[in-house]
Amino acid sequence: MRTATKTLIDRLEGLAPRTALVLGSGLGSLVGRVEDAIRIPYGDLDGFPASGVSGHAGEVVAGRIAGHPVLILSGRVHYYEHGDPAAMRLPIECLADIGVERLILTNSAGSLRQDLPPGSVMLITDHINWSGMNPLIGEPTDRRFVGMTNAYHTGMMAAARAAAKTAGVDLGEGVYVWFSGPSFETPAEIRMAGKLGADAVGMSTVPEVILARFAGLDVAAFSVITNFGAGMTGSELSHDETKEIAPKGGERLGRVIAAMLADQTGD
Ligand code: HPA
Repeated sequence: MRTATKTLIDRLEGLAPRTALVLGSGLGSLVGRVEDAIRIPYGDLDGFPASGVSGHAGEVVAGRIAGHPVLILSGRVHYYEHGDPAAMRLPIECLADIGVERLILTNSAGSLRQDLPPGSVMLITDHINWSGMNPLIGEPTDRRFVGMTNAYHTGMMAAARAAAKTAGVDLGEGVYVWFSGPSFETPAEIRMAGKLGADAVGMSTVPEVILARFAGLDVAAFSVITNFGAGMTGSELSHDETKEIAPKGGERLGRVIAAMLADQTGD
């Protein structure tokens, strides 16, 4: 058994979450909804990555939300930090090791649509991998040929829509396009992405979706819109803006996810 898996099982003291969350930039407030939280710094988990991005904490927080066991990966490592698209492989595989079956991914993103302004929450229904990268490059087994036709789980998307209704949150839907970052996109790239069929743009999540499907987890993902894409307004983009706006949409997203967990059967 992987050392990190063993440490996780020991520290969780019998808590057996079947749902896990990955929190994106500025979305840490969901952690505040966890009751009886057990906190494990990534540094205590052998092979878990250290994230240097401000707004990303780097710890596992496990406990209950709305009475249901849940494990949160608070803080992710992005491809743009070290050039490794598989940086989140070990944490995601550890989730599968301990019996997690569903992964809910969250991120901050730029909007390509006027009707999805900053502060909106978008359910990701599909994605475009524009980075040219894939976290399974180098995986030697035939398991690397992961089907992506139903990457975003139909049942989880239905649960998300129902939860948004319950929570009174207007939930947008759309396609997320992954640009590697860390520089933001140019206005021409944003226009291109819109023509390709994207609704939101960001620098994360897609490699984790691929890794989660590789690990056999069901996936749902949400974007909190923090800005319009480059060139859509007169102003320059900044990470400070992401950090400032994300918690506002993050509060709404927190309510959707809490309602999703409350509705979950089988835990
Ligand atoms: N582009 C890429 N990533 C982002 C953006 C954006 O406009 N906003 C938040 N994350």
